[in-house]
Amino acid sequence: MPAIILPDLPYKTDALAPVLSQETLEYHWGKHHRAYVDNLNKLLPPDNLQNLESLVQTAPPGPIFNNAGQIWNHNFYWQCLAAKGSAENICDLGPLHQAINTQFGSLDTFKAQFIEAAVKQFGSGWAWLVKDKITSRLTIETTANAETPLQKKDKIPLLTCDVWEHAYYIDYRNRRPDYLKAFWEIVNWAFILKNWKK
Ligand SMILES: [Fe+2]
Repeated sequence: MPAIILPDLPYKTDALAPVLSQETLEYHWGKHHRAYVDNLNKLLPPDNLQNLESLVQTAPPGPIFNNAGQIWNHNFYWQCLAAKGSAENICDLGPLHQAINTQFGSLDTFKAQFIEAAVKQFGSGWAWLVKDKITSRLTIETTANAETPLQKKDKIPLLTCDVWEHAYYIDYRNRRPDYLKAFWEIVNWAFILKNWKK
């Protein structure tokens, strides 16, 4: 029994079209994400008892961390998305809206700053909205390759966007800004709100 599994998507592979096509999800989830899971299971000793979170937080730089980080980031990314117009997508942000206004000025300013950070992330990586566990302050961060806010014990990730080319190249070719602009149409605000309340 492999220690690490590939979670099912929380929706059908065509649910996010046209923002993200069925072909993108079939490759991104079905091949890229699956390959990280298969690779990690080959790297782990048969008697491994560590769960995914523990591996991300304790593995030294190298193949085990790279695959574990990518699996955790993708598990989180898929949960950050929901079909356009679904209850999760059009969910009222409630008090989180005020927290975003306080930190960034407005929801639109937050989105613009998130897009700018994501577009500027050089090469492969991730853009995040994170909450500080002590101060509750919201910040936009980017991480390179498989790095993740989960490595920092004082941060709670609320939202991520995958900016590896494999996330958008089928639908947007090299136009990362267009992917980021459309991304908001399929954000799962209910998931972000749930994370913020932690
Ligand atoms: Fe990815």
